[in-house]
Amino acid sequence: MALWTQVLLWGLALLQNSTVLLSSGSGPATSDSSVVSESVVTWEAGSQAVLRCQSPRMVWTQDRLHDRQRVVHWDLGGGPGPARRLVDMYSAGEPRVYQPRDRGRLLLSPSAFHDGNFSLLIRAVEESDAGLYTCNLHHHYCHLYESLAIRLEVTDDPRAARAYWDGEKEVLTAARGTPTLLTCVNRALLWTERHLEEAQQVVHWDRQPPGVPHDRADRLLDLYASGERRAYAPPFLRDRVAVGADAFARGDFSLRIDPLEPADEGTYSCHLHHHYCGLHERRVFHLRVAEPAATPPPLRPSPGSAPDPTLARGRSVINVIVPEGRAHFFQQLGYVLATLLLFILLLITVVLTTRQRRRGGYDYTDQKSAKAKAKDVNLAEFAVATGDQTPYRSEDIQLDYKNNILKERVELVHSPLPAKNIDLDKEFRKEYCK
Ligand SMILES: *[C@@H]1O[C@H](CO)[C@@H](O)[C@H](O)[C@H]1NC(C)=O
Repeated sequence: MALWTQVLLWGLALLQNSTVLLSSGSGPATSDSSVVSESVVTWEAGSQAVLRCQSPRMVWTQDRLHDRQRVVHWDLGGGPGPARRLVDMYSAGEPRVYQPRDRGRLLLSPSAFHDGNFSLLIRAVEESDAGLYTCNLHHHYCHLYESLAIRLEVTDDPRAARAYWDGEKEVLTAARGTPTLLTCVNRALLWTERHLEEAQQVVHWDRQPPGVPHDRADRLLDLYASGERRAYAPPFLRDRVAVGADAFARGDFSLRIDPLEPADEGTYSCHLHHHYCGLHERRVFHLRVAEPAATPPPLRPSPGSAPDPTLARGRSVINVIVPEGRAHFFQQLGYVLATLLLFILLLITVVLTTRQRRRGGYDYTDQKSAKAKAKDVNLAEFAVATGDQTPYRSEDIQLDYKNNILKERVELVHSPLPAKNIDLDKEFRKEYCK
């Protein structure tokens, strides 16, 4: 006994340890993503539930050159007409100057994508250079766009040259004919790419059954940009959950559950990870399953207008229910009548057997009548012993037939009862042991 207890305790300790290990192992993997949306969604049981999880940034852009498809361009606006492009450069290319008059005058460092210095140097500022400059960085691979604005003013007075921040952007006042540097620096690894990391785009769907915390969530699906997929959903759910086959082409990782079942309720999370692009997002859905749209319900008495027919008894039932829905009324009446009929039949049987017994001569070989008698005697004894006949009296007014059995019972009690002398136990034993 002591050995068994020890073994049991040891087993429990082992189980607890392994649980701690498991939960601590899964913890850090999910804690780094930020929840970008949380919603409660309700779908009808039997319908198709769609939990929307979309991000254009997760669209898989195949980049076989591994140049990460970035571009920088400087635009000049702020004057009449639309902004015009002055110069641009691809991450794997040379600077390109648009206007012939700007060649050799506007300079962009060829190493911009290596050192993160995208500044534009104007060799000698002219009056026409004044305006609103924007330094634009596009990361096509990561679907990122960043823009920086600088206002350039040109003055004739070299002492008036200055730079200040107007609350939104830098404002630079440069003297005519001097070299001017419009600074645009972004040294984020994403733009400079001093390390080569394979694209790691992965999407997970998790499910927490009701009452289960996030760190104990069940993994439903893993989707990789390479096309690999892994399903872990519990068997009852596995065949009904799906994410579109072209998910990475469209950035749509919405989870469909079809058909939805009440047991599917829980918290579902969509995790989007683009490790290279620094994207870590989680969308949370608290899924509720509603009853399917009700088929037109049978006619029922409106609540409050009539007492519940199942609670009413006797003739009053008829009076109350007649004005209500007829189909329902007849159904109820049918139940009441059937019950009454059964009761009457039972009474008749009891009365008949009692009379037969009083006429003298009990047939002890008739097992069934003996059984009926035994019941009857017990009933009579109970009624007299407790002396509680008030419930019967109140019913006398309503139901005449009940009066009969009461009479019978009273007569039975007052008349000598040979039945009491019968060894009923013996009779029953004979019956059941046959
Ligand atoms: C950026 O490059 C320019 C030359 O193109 C240089 O004058 C400037 O100091 C550099 N800025 C930074 C912050 O490295």
